[in-house]
Amino acid sequence: MAKETDIKNIPSIFVIFGATGDLSRKKIFPSLFKLYCAKLLPEKFKIIATARSSFTTDEFLDLIAETTPSKDQAKWSSFKSLVEYLPTDIEKKIGLDTLKEKIDAFEDEIGSCSQRIFYMAISPFIYEYAFETLGQYKLNLGCQKHGKLARIVIEKPFGYDYESSQLLNKKLNEYFEEKQIFRIDHFLGKETVQNIFAFRFANEFFEPIWNKNYIDHVQITMAEHVGVERRGEYYDRAGALRDTIQNHLLQLLSIVTMEEPKMFDQTSIRDKKLDVLRSIRRLSEAEVATNTIRGQYEGYKDEEKVDPKSTTETYALAKLFIDNDRWQGVPFYLRTGKKLVGKVTSIIFSLKEPGHPLFDSFTKESIGNHVTLQIQPNEGIGIHLAAKKPGLTTTLEPVDMEFCYKTSFTEPQPDAYERLIIDMISGDQTLFLGQVGESWKIIDPIHKAWEANAAALTTYKPGSWGPAEADKLIQTDKKDWLAPLLSICKI
Ligand code: BG6
Repeated sequence: MAKETDIKNIPSIFVIFGATGDLSRKKIFPSLFKLYCAKLLPEKFKIIATARSSFTTDEFLDLIAETTPSKDQAKWSSFKSLVEYLPTDIEKKIGLDTLKEKIDAFEDEIGSCSQRIFYMAISPFIYEYAFETLGQYKLNLGCQKHGKLARIVIEKPFGYDYESSQLLNKKLNEYFEEKQIFRIDHFLGKETVQNIFAFRFANEFFEPIWNKNYIDHVQITMAEHVGVERRGEYYDRAGALRDTIQNHLLQLLSIVTMEEPKMFDQTSIRDKKLDVLRSIRRLSEAEVATNTIRGQYEGYKDEEKVDPKSTTETYALAKLFIDNDRWQGVPFYLRTGKKLVGKVTSIIFSLKEPGHPLFDSFTKESIGNHVTLQIQPNEGIGIHLAAKKPGLTTTLEPVDMEFCYKTSFTEPQPDAYERLIIDMISGDQTLFLGQVGESWKIIDPIHKAWEANAAALTTYKPGSWGPAEADKLIQTDKKDWLAPLLSICKI
């Protein structure tokens, strides 16, 4: 990671396409403002916000102010002076000449080249046109005076399936080299996700048990309380499997199961994650019927910009296997859903039952050992174990050992986007995705089988834990959901 001083000395221009959308308003701008307040942005910095709406800069800033908490009015005012709004249409190629002029004007004003960063916060369905437009206007080339290549930042989902992701990549590579491309999976920027590397490889405790000999199964849950909100148009075409399992959950899965990388750098980490993704068993149609669940929350069809006959899943569950020496035979349950009871993302490793019956008569029911990596909220790590209850009789009860960020550290946790923006400016791609084809190869057979109606779409009540079928699936394997039961750091 670049040092603070390096960042300060990288004059940069940050162009956000799709600047009026949810991502820009809720994540990118609040993070930029926080970085600005913490004096972590380059000294010479400009933000050009662009979208189709014909706002003035002031009108745009009023819109942004709604989602950017600014207790310090003085700082907010000076931050505003970095921002300029420009209406453009990247698909129809409108306003791009003006954008170029504004970039040149900034570089003239600071008297040097700048690092040009183009952030695609637009609908993934128009990426192809966007890449082409940037190429045609030579915006991919960056500041020519010093041959400084521009960078492009692309949000997930990258493609709609394997084939489209490859086509998209081809188009992207016509104009951009890999070192210019920053494919975001914002989960990788989360502090707790980065801590998984430290937890696994900077400690001696866990690696010896991190395999099929000790681990019975693993549950990865990403539950959300919110529904599709203003994103009906995108979400109805994507669905839960594409929206979060293809990227966030498969990334989490690969990080918690990969072999130790030789170095903590982009190539070593990407290679090891890729090994895992390649080893995940592709499900047959019959397996999709038994190993997956898809559900839709009641009322989803009435959401704004959602097809009233939609069959898009807002809940998805997939039981996957990694066919390698370390994990052969261990089931990984990945589940995600909108409008569930609450927001929680966690990874729970459930250990096998102890092979010795010494304490069997002292417990009402067996107390399993579990290791919980809680990504959000109340970030931390927990170990669930059996302990003797104080007293004259011998009774075992379950207890939790916890490490909680909130109590162990006083430093505030930066938002994932803050970390990733810094890395975009400094050019560090470690926390960005490489090619994403392998994850589509896992997801595509599931979609294909769903289209053939394997695992029929079920419904679930908002505020529940999803379809009853998901409970049946895990219970058939003689297991039960552990999140949120084992949720930790409730302080
Ligand atoms: C996004 C998904 O990638 O992640 C959204 O597209 C989801 O549907 C969001 O709501 C959740 O992110 P976070 O950081 O709030 O857990």
